[in-house]
Amino acid sequence: MTAEAAFEEINEAKANLDYIYDEPDPRNYFGELGKLDYAIPDLAKPIFQKLISHLRYRKNGTIHVLDLGCSYGINAAMLKYDLSMSDLYHHWGNEALLGATAEEVAAHNREFMRDLDEPADIEMVGIDLAASATAFAKDAGLLDEDIVINLETDPLPEVAKEKLAPIDLVTSTGCVGYVTEKSFDRLLPAVTQGQAPWMGNFVLRLFPFEPIAKSLSEWGYVTEKLEGQTFPQRHFSSTEEQEQVLEQLCERGIDPAGQESEGSLLAEFYLSRPAEDVARCPIEQLLSA
Ligand SMILES: C[S@@+](CC[C@H](N)C(=O)[O-])C[C@H]1O[C@@H](n2cnc3c(N)ncnc32)[C@H](O)[C@@H]1O
Repeated sequence: MTAEAAFEEINEAKANLDYIYDEPDPRNYFGELGKLDYAIPDLAKPIFQKLISHLRYRKNGTIHVLDLGCSYGINAAMLKYDLSMSDLYHHWGNEALLGATAEEVAAHNREFMRDLDEPADIEMVGIDLAASATAFAKDAGLLDEDIVINLETDPLPEVAKEKLAPIDLVTSTGCVGYVTEKSFDRLLPAVTQGQAPWMGNFVLRLFPFEPIAKSLSEWGYVTEKLEGQTFPQRHFSSTEEQEQVLEQLCERGIDPAGQESEGSLLAEFYLSRPAEDVARCPIEQLLSA
């Protein structure tokens, strides 16, 4: 089976949530994902913040982050504005907003953003194929730049290469699986134009990261997995989804007993950095410092 066919088969085991990914605002995103306790951006936040604080030692000034599968700017809200998922569920998943017009939602949002503290010195670029979601994130000021593209099928346009030249850190939550090594192959020439960025990906145990790690290794990267730690991404949406996922895990030789069998999809953290950075400070030391 090709890697592409394997990813497709794994994706079929998961509930299809595509209908909430590309709306004019994130009310349904938070409404639906709130029911499933979608939590991975919250769990990723302290790790990404730690990476950013290390990167500040090697560079003065603004840290440039590329969030892959950025959606409505969720990781940007966590990292730039120090928000939590509970803030976002409260703000955008709020039932009082359900019947609101687009103008009312926009006004509510402007008020919300106006009351936030000064953002961290981070510039956020987001890539996603969902044009309405990234437009929302850009209008809200969560993203500084958005690139609407499906790198699984299309090459990176010339104009995007300029936006990606200064990237220091690539992040993703809930995205690997939708994207494969094909997207990374298309991104790598653009993001490594200057200093090679670090790449932190939270990846469901369901999906193999090896094909992406192999692509990255061709550009001088070494990938480390944070051992002994899993991160609950969300609850299963149904017993059927859970059964299908457990079956897929077993087929991949991963034992779900006491793990996904308890009711949640679990992610792991992979950090890819230039070989010399890994030699200087391995992942456990980096994240405990
Ligand atoms: C589960 S959501 C995660 C969103 C966000 N990172 C979070 O954790 O809340 C998956 C995101 O991946 C995006 N996506 C799916 N296929 C993609 C592709 N081929 N390229 C870029 N983004 C993609 C979807 O539009 C959606 O925004």
